[in-house]
Amino acid sequence: MPELPAPGWSDPALVVLVGTSGAGKSTWAAERYRNAEIVSSDQLRGVVGSGPNDLDASADAFALLGVIVRARAARKLTTVIDTLGLDRARRQEYLELARSAGLRAVVVVFQTPAALSRARNSARDRPVPAAVLTGQHKRLRGATAEISTEGWDQQIMVTGAAVAPTSEPVTEPELPTPAAREMDFVLQLSRFPWGVDPAGWLAGIARSAADAGFSGIALMDHLIQIPVVGRAWEPIPEPWVTLGLLAGLDLGLRLGTLVSPITFRAPGIIAKAAATLDVLTGGRAFCGLGAGWWQREHAAFGLPFPSARQRLDQLELTIETVRALWSPGTRKYCGQRLELPETTCYPRPVGRIPIIVGGSGERRTLQIAARYGDGCNLSSDPEVLAGKVEVLRRHCAQALRDPAEVAVTVLDVPIIGADRDEVAEGIERLRGRSAATTLVRRAGPPADHVARYRRLAGLGVSTVFLAPAELRGPADVAQFAPVVQAFD
Ligand code: UTP
Ligand code: MG
Repeated sequence: MPELPAPGWSDPALVVLVGTSGAGKSTWAAERYRNAEIVSSDQLRGVVGSGPNDLDASADAFALLGVIVRARAARKLTTVIDTLGLDRARRQEYLELARSAGLRAVVVVFQTPAALSRARNSARDRPVPAAVLTGQHKRLRGATAEISTEGWDQQIMVTGAAVAPTSEPVTEPELPTPAAREMDFVLQLSRFPWGVDPAGWLAGIARSAADAGFSGIALMDHLIQIPVVGRAWEPIPEPWVTLGLLAGLDLGLRLGTLVSPITFRAPGIIAKAAATLDVLTGGRAFCGLGAGWWQREHAAFGLPFPSARQRLDQLELTIETVRALWSPGTRKYCGQRLELPETTCYPRPVGRIPIIVGGSGERRTLQIAARYGDGCNLSSDPEVLAGKVEVLRRHCAQALRDPAEVAVTVLDVPIIGADRDEVAEGIERLRGRSAATTLVRRAGPPADHVARYRRLAGLGVSTVFLAPAELRGPADVAQFAPVVQAFD
């Protein structure tokens, strides 16, 4: 049975329904959107007139509909316009409104067979006169022809008996389905509401991650909780120590940091910590490295915070140092940036520990990732990501590096719920720390996230570092199981 694209795929969107009376428009909308997201001319006739069928109240109902739609569009809220949609001028108005508000313009055309909508119509309490329905069918044929030239971002056709309508997005390119294990998911921990039993809380989270199909756990590396995640007095543990505890659980997870600022520890100490973690996990360690950005935590902990340029130099030096110390043998190292009298660093890592460079500065950070990284961690916003990947590839070409050797990874902060109501509740809980308009782009039921991640896979992403926007306990991790397992 063909599946409808998940509505959240287009969020935030202005969705305009087009179809005859009894076509099943309101039913379709109610199955996919929350009540508050649907603006219906029939309902508004009931508000400003004597009831949904009070045609004398049409002008007022449409005026009110316009006010509601404009107000919602200005707040970038997904809105479904449930009217007949057969009037070209009105459609054009809604399309332009979507454009100016920066909403995706989606049109849904109901090509319900005439006999079926007639049958449904006559079964209703107040059927539309047969002649009126015939007129609507004629106008629908005209509208269907016009719509493809109107410039909608997405056109969805609903046909058939509409219990499980078939549908195809006309302008949306086919999404590549990733091959087996083309993309994996690492749970990123950045908040630790662990109550009175930190070790028990961490173990519960880790087990839930393993059960859900995550391939690993990454820990954020900060000295003070960062403002986008939480408040300064909330716990943010030292990651390498914490990773040691997780390694002890023996869950077969990959473990590492995302990312360690090179300003926190001397390069050799990072090499030692990561090599130790690698042997403790049987070769499952990874090492995220970045230039650091938050002056406050450096000042508070008595650490120097040099200029961006110096920190980027230090990032290069750190990568060179850790690689030297991870190489076999103990001989003297004479490199581009440093000399070491010996490279005696035992235990040796089990294998090659991947270095993932964080940050997306196009001139230097991406160049460092292209030259020396095994991976590069970028934004999960598809529009931003596409540009960054292109720059990364260019740097790879200049460095004579096969782009396949530099994995593209993203940090993503999704909001999940079983259905749109739960998702909306989550957004309301999180509102304030981030604008709701930025939250909705990463919010949805599992199917929406699968669609989002398929799109990222199509852009070349091989690992998603997934940091649930709400992480209270293992249940918040388990909710992602269907998403992660869709890529098995
Ligand atoms: P709707 O009330 O959804 O149609 O369905 P509509 O397009 O919004 O119609 P108007 O424009 O407001 O008049 C019409 C009838 O068909 C049934 C619904 O239960 C309703 O009684 N229906 C709809 C189905 O039986 N199956 C469907 O898949 C859709
Ligand atoms: Mg209706």
